Amino acid sequence: MTEKILILDFGSQYTQLIARRVRELHTYCEIVPYNKVPALDDTIKGIILSGSPFSVKEPDALRLDLNELVGKKPLLGICYGAQLLTDFYGGVVQRSDKREYGKAHLSNVRYQDPFLHGVPDGSQVWMSHGDSIMELPPQFELLASTESIPVAVFRSKKGAFANPVYGIQFHPEVTHSVDGRNILRNFVYDICGCSGEWTPAHFVEETVEGLRRKIGRERVLMGLSGGVDSTVAAELLHKAIGDQLICFFIDNGLLRKNEFEEVLKSYESMGLNVVGIDAKQRFWDALAGESSPEKKRKIIGREFIHVFEEEAQKLEGIEWLGQGTIYPDVIESVSVHGPSVTIKSHHNVGGLPDVLKLKIVEPLRMLFKDEVREVGKELGIPMEILGRHPFPGPGLGVRILGDITPEKVALLQEADHIFISKLKKYGLYDKVWQAGAILLPVQSVGVMGDERTYERTAVLRAVNSVDGMTAEWSRLPHDFLADVSSEIVNNVKGINRVVFDISNKPPSTIEWE
Ligand code: XMP
Repeated sequence: MTEKILILDFGSQYTQLIARRVRELHTYCEIVPYNKVPALDDTIKGIILSGSPFSVKEPDALRLDLNELVGKKPLLGICYGAQLLTDFYGGVVQRSDKREYGKAHLSNVRYQDPFLHGVPDGSQVWMSHGDSIMELPPQFELLASTESIPVAVFRSKKGAFANPVYGIQFHPEVTHSVDGRNILRNFVYDICGCSGEWTPAHFVEETVEGLRRKIGRERVLMGLSGGVDSTVAAELLHKAIGDQLICFFIDNGLLRKNEFEEVLKSYESMGLNVVGIDAKQRFWDALAGESSPEKKRKIIGREFIHVFEEEAQKLEGIEWLGQGTIYPDVIESVSVHGPSVTIKSHHNVGGLPDVLKLKIVEPLRMLFKDEVREVGKELGIPMEILGRHPFPGPGLGVRILGDITPEKVALLQEADHIFISKLKKYGLYDKVWQAGAILLPVQSVGVMGDERTYERTAVLRAVNSVDGMTAEWSRLPHDFLADVSSEIVNNVKGINRVVFDISNKPPSTIEWE
């Protein structure tokens, strides 16, 4: 069984980042809400208590009985976690209304301690806390201070508990803490004794074995979107159970130009047992005359479920539904704060499990997006799939403002195709996070040759982002934009004007609908 570090989440915005840093050390790491501690079996090598927006001095602060944890495994409290340890064992945490936010420098570093090996005096650390630890309980000793706080790092005295306990006031997981990675490495490898065995290859091997055991001789059905997550999930399943996996790839009439054919070909070349379903007309009929963004989304979602269900009924003996769910979705839904408002209401396959009454299998449930890509590389999935920009489930349906017709789809496909092809040609495709064209429901006057035109406008949208939650418009070079604009206007009959979207998210969104 894979060894792991457990993070108890007290709701800090940095908790996911801690997990990522630990995983970068090739050590599997799982986040659980602070009050849902699982049985501490042998696979758990150490425990981290996260930060929190709360103060331990508040009456309704998040607490737990640390006697249940301390001594059982090596433990590290970060920020709130460190204050909780101090408070629990009778030290002094001072309440403050002011936050210390920003850079500080360690002083009096006890670098003989394995936890701080390689960390010099003066090392820059990143602080973000209100309360401060002023006095340690008798079981603990000081390992470092900073210019502004007496207790920046501490540990339990030798022999105080069966396993060592460490506490740090700063955030080792953010890159501004110059030796943060070092400190986490010391904790994970030297204090917890992890061996760094968790690599993409290891993940693939273990997951494939697990899937085989779980699914046995049964059959799995899975909808593919052409995106990274569903493709990687399908390939893992395929490796585990071969042709017991059946995939659907539905053409909803709202895909990019040639996308259906090209993606289907990639899937076939990967050896997937995939059924391409042409449902274009059905989606267009259902959408006819509808202009409301929310209603269009609902119609597209509903039709997707109907098509999927109808096709699924043609198959016999399906027991499982495969899904490309990834870790951020899972954490969101079990977070300390409860399901967060940031969960996208537009989850593409929402509703399918209920309708189909199948068991769910989600091979990527425990991976972050960048880890999914690494696993994809390990599986040999073609770069044209792994490197693709995100594309919304409702596709061009949310990029054609107003009502949707097959003619408008064709028009937008052409403009979008020119934009994306040129991004690739200029070497810009991999530099932007997501790009696409949008078709506006307004016409404006233009002149072409001697003729007056009265045609539509295409918007070019390109953004840089990490996870799509916030985004900045991409500073594409003017010469490039000029080239795209004239190519579109000269070649796409029906569009006589091209504009570039210079809005960030927030307050705008990436998609226009
Ligand atoms: P917004 O427009 O909310 O988009 O800023 C954020 C990211 O989510 C994608 N998006 C969707 N993805 N189904 C999806 O699978 C949808 O309905 C949907 N709507 C937006 C969007 O493309 C961007 O990457």
